[in-house]
Amino acid sequence: MLVNGKEMRSLWYEDECLKLIDQRKLPAKLEIFEAKSAEDVAYAIKEMVVRGAPAIGCAAAYGVAMAKDKEKAAKMLKETRPTAYDLFYAIDYVLEKARQGEDAIKVAGEYTEGIVKKCRKIGEHGKKLIGKNARILTHCNAGALACVDYGTALAPIRMAKDMQPFVWVDETRPRLQGLLTAWELEREGIEHAVIADNAAGYFMRNGEVDLVIVGADRIAKSYDVANKIGTYEKAVIAKENGIPFYVAAPLSTFDKRIENGSQIKIEERCGEEVTKVYPWKPHRVRNPAFDVTPAKYITGIITEEGIIELQKK
Ligand code: MRU
Repeated sequence: MLVNGKEMRSLWYEDECLKLIDQRKLPAKLEIFEAKSAEDVAYAIKEMVVRGAPAIGCAAAYGVAMAKDKEKAAKMLKETRPTAYDLFYAIDYVLEKARQGEDAIKVAGEYTEGIVKKCRKIGEHGKKLIGKNARILTHCNAGALACVDYGTALAPIRMAKDMQPFVWVDETRPRLQGLLTAWELEREGIEHAVIADNAAGYFMRNGEVDLVIVGADRIAKSYDVANKIGTYEKAVIAKENGIPFYVAAPLSTFDKRIENGSQIKIEERCGEEVTKVYPWKPHRVRNPAFDVTPAKYITGIITEEGIIELQKK
C-alpha cells in the first residue's frame, strides 16, 4: 500500500522482530509496534495492534516461529481471538512445517508472501465486477492493513482504479475500522465518503450504491460468512434493493470443518468499546464483534482462484 508516496506493508519481519503498523493509533498517528516474542505477538493480536483475518494469521505465523516452545506458543496464540479462521489455519501451517524440521521463520515469511499474492489475485478476479464510476459500499477494513498488502474487499477496488470508482465507507462502530479504510483510500487517491453505519440503507434505497464488497473472518461449508458486526444487515438491505453483495476472501478463511454459520464462535468484546463516547455509563452493554450472513444473501465470493457464484443478481 502507498504511505507517504512509498510502498509499505502492515507487518514485516526485520532484525529478529515482527514490526507492525499499530492500527490502534491510525489514522491519527503512524506508529510501529515491535513484537520481539510470541507473547508480544499475542498481545498485539488481542489488543488489535494488528487486526483483520489474513493479517492476524500472518502475525501469528511469526509468533509461533519466534517461540522456542512452539506448541506452547501455538496454544497461547489460538486463545487471542476466536472468530477469524486464518489465525488457526496459519498457526497449524507453521507448526506442522516446524515439526517436519523446516526453518519456521522462513515458513512464516513464505506464508505471508502467499497471502499477499492471494490478495493480488483476489483483486484481479474482482476488478471485473467494477464498471466505470461504480459506487461500491464496504464495511469495516478489509484493506492492506487487514491483509499485509492489497486487501481482500479493497483489492478489486485498488485494481479497478482506472474505472474511477467511488467508495461508500461504513464507519463501523464501535472501533471505527472504516476510518482505516478511508485512510488507505486517501493514500491511493480513490474517491470515497465515510458514512454512519445506519446510513447505508438510505444510500442503497436511494439508488446510490451499485455494488457491496466486504471481507470475511470465517466461511462455513454452506458459504455462510462471519464478518464484522453489521455486515448481515447490509447484506439483507442489499438483497432487498437488488444490489449485488460480494464477499472477498482467500481460501485460508474457509473453514471446511464446519457445515454452517451457526457453528462459528462469535467474539464478544468489552462494553467499554461501545460506551467510551457516551457522557454516562449505561447499566448493561453487549458488544459482539462479528455476525453471520447466510449464503442466501451473498451474490458471490471472490477468492484467489476465481469467483464462486452463489445467488443470481
Ligand atoms: O475485528 P477486526 O477489525 O479484526 O475485524 C476485521 C473484519 O471483520 C474484516 O472484515 C475481516 O477480517 C476481513 S479482513 C480482510
